[in-house]
Amino acid sequence: MLYLAPLQGFTDFTFRMVFLRHFGGIEACFIPYLSLQGGEVPKRELREILPDNNPSLVRTVPQVLVKAADELVSLATLLTTYGYREINLNLGCPYPMVTRRGRGAGLLPQPQEVKKILEAAFEIPEMEVSVKFRTGLQEESELPAILAVLNSFPLKEMIYHPRLASQLYKGTVNEVLFRTVAENTPHRLIYNGDIFSVEDFRRKEQLLPPISGWMLGRGILMNPFLAEEICGTMTAPEEKRERLQAFHDELFEAYSERLAPSRQEIVKMQQFWSYFSFAFPDPRKTFKRIKKAKRREDYLAAVKINLESWSF
Ligand SMILES: Cc1cc2nc3c(=O)[nH]c(=O)nc-3n(C[C@H](O)[C@H](O)[C@H](O)COP(=O)(O)O)c2cc1C
Repeated sequence: MLYLAPLQGFTDFTFRMVFLRHFGGIEACFIPYLSLQGGEVPKRELREILPDNNPSLVRTVPQVLVKAADELVSLATLLTTYGYREINLNLGCPYPMVTRRGRGAGLLPQPQEVKKILEAAFEIPEMEVSVKFRTGLQEESELPAILAVLNSFPLKEMIYHPRLASQLYKGTVNEVLFRTVAENTPHRLIYNGDIFSVEDFRRKEQLLPPISGWMLGRGILMNPFLAEEICGTMTAPEEKRERLQAFHDELFEAYSERLAPSRQEIVKMQQFWSYFSFAFPDPRKTFKRIKKAKRREDYLAAVKINLESWSF
């Protein structure tokens, strides 16, 4: 069971829609977090949950970033009006701007606050609740108290990225702690973190106890075939190049249409290439070529050279 991670700024509705049309292997997508600003969901975030933008190709779960129960109730109520019956609570966002305000991983040292939030979540009729969390904000010693709270609610599942928030994305994931959590929770548990290749996946699968699923994030941006390959579907090199080109072209067209007035589609695609380029023999050169392009023709020419340079 493979899930697509929420990656704010990357796995937005445009990416999800195009990706799911071109690649298999993913059973559920998590929408990057919704939050309240001045009591309202910003328009940009609201677009992410609109049913028209989420044709139900796979299970799609909205995520909320809150600091207290009242925020959760507002967001969950809004989600209910759009027909969602499942929410994921973000207990992992590591960025100081978020954690200082007591949201994301900022809630990890406050298990009593998490308890109040989850109590409010379980008051909402017919709403299933899951969480995505890290080990702690600063210290591994934060884990037992937060896990005790999570274990005391009938969560649909827990997605665990075994890093401290203070690490951001640096250092290594703590697989020993993941095992400890797996052995000390009644919940369905999903592993997340640093699966960038089929080999990474196989190694972790060997190392960790049997779990309910795996969530892939940056690895999918680096290699959109990753989920298929983990599931054992291999594609011949030439076909792979063609499929990658077709996926790229549709993504570019979709952003060109969506961002038409601002003409920001090249900037948007350059962000993706900061990850895509890892699939190429010389990632630095591949990315540099794309970064240099200012006009549409230059960008498309750079993409063509990159795809021709791709060796398997
Ligand atoms: C650019 C970026 C944006 C992210 N946005 C979110 C988010 O909105 N919600 C969330 O729970 N995690 C978010 N994450 C964390 C990822 O979902 C995931 O937990 C993390 O990247 C580790 O998994 P990976 O090694 O497979 O990428 C984000 C990570 C990155 C790099």
